[in-house]
Amino acid sequence: MVRLLVWLLPLWFSLCPTRAWVASNLLMTGPRAFLTYARSVQVGTKNGIEECKYQFALDRWNCPDSATQLKGLRRATRETSFVHAISAAGVMYTLTRNCSLGDLDNCGCDVSKNGKIGGRGWLWGGCSDNVEFGETISKQYVDAQETGHDSRAAVNLHNNEAGRLAVKATMKRVCRCHGMSESCSVKTCWMQLSDFRDIGNYLKNKHNQAQKLDTDKKRMRAGNSADNRGAIMDALRSIAPTELIYLEDSPDYCRRNSSMGLYGTEGRECLTHGEGLTQWETRSCRRLCHECGLGVQERRVEVVSSCNCKFHWCCQVNCDRCAHVVVKHVCVKREGSDGNGFRRRHRGGHKS
Ligand SMILES: *[C@@H]1O[C@H](CO)[C@@H](O)[C@H](O)[C@H]1NC(C)=O
Ligand SMILES: *[C@@H]1O[C@H](CO)[C@@H](O)[C@H](O)[C@H]1NC(C)=O
Repeated sequence: MVRLLVWLLPLWFSLCPTRAWVASNLLMTGPRAFLTYARSVQVGTKNGIEECKYQFALDRWNCPDSATQLKGLRRATRETSFVHAISAAGVMYTLTRNCSLGDLDNCGCDVSKNGKIGGRGWLWGGCSDNVEFGETISKQYVDAQETGHDSRAAVNLHNNEAGRLAVKATMKRVCRCHGMSESCSVKTCWMQLSDFRDIGNYLKNKHNQAQKLDTDKKRMRAGNSADNRGAIMDALRSIAPTELIYLEDSPDYCRRNSSMGLYGTEGRECLTHGEGLTQWETRSCRRLCHECGLGVQERRVEVVSSCNCKFHWCCQVNCDRCAHVVVKHVCVKREGSDGNGFRRRHRGGHKS
């Protein structure tokens, strides 16, 4: 939470109503509006970062808190592209939900198409999630953090936009039947946000396919900053707005590098075998430990939890405390190894 605030703090200042606060007819203005939305923006950002941690739990880079602070966002790698996209999506998502739930005085469901024919046998009706509103606020709050005019700022803004497009791309049409005993003689449909998890999955896939922006290096070196921006804009034009992009190759996420805020994979937990594990999960020890020059240590951990619970009328539940042993697997340094032999062979963080 504290770290999140560190990240949000510049945002608060950059959005002080005296500066850069663009009010449209749709929005409230003044300090009250600022506070109303700022709270939701904060919640949305936090949800985005939590989703990032979930999506990368078994990757070498696991969305550490340092990555979501300004220091971690100084580079424009494949991983920071995800952080930008999921944060922008989280803010848009939360504000859109707020809108549909009636949390905000000045926006509500999108009913602009209600009553119109949507397709064969159905009409628009009900409460469509008002993504335009959430999109507007996300642009104003999240994009306002990019104060620079360099290539990194252009890339970050592109990735913010890709995050917002993911919210739209994953929306679903939901329908309800009406008529005599729901005979479906009349069907109404509306557009609804997916679960945020679906958006996380969608963007994780975009992260895997992220493209390195191919800029004209000669022009970049020779030119001034306006020229650089021109070169970036040219390069950006060839990439679909839905795709994540980056400028720099990822560092070696196997190794700890405190000056870059990287923890390395030593001490990370991985999964070996178990019922219903995906291939991605069962390969996590190889990915996190072996391929990073580390060994795997089995640890038996005693976990105490409630058990044998009995319900007594009325209204009390008595439980025993039971201890059981859970086996965990953790990446550890190999004996007599400094890990250096692996460093050269497994350079580059992104490998699956
Ligand atoms: C928007 O929703 C989030 C949770 O979904 C909630 O924490 C926040 O308070 C809401 N904002 C407003 C203004 O009600
Ligand atoms: C940490 O990263 C920086 C920048 O890439 C590099 O110059 C430095 O050598 C790294 N330090 C270690 C201990 O790997």
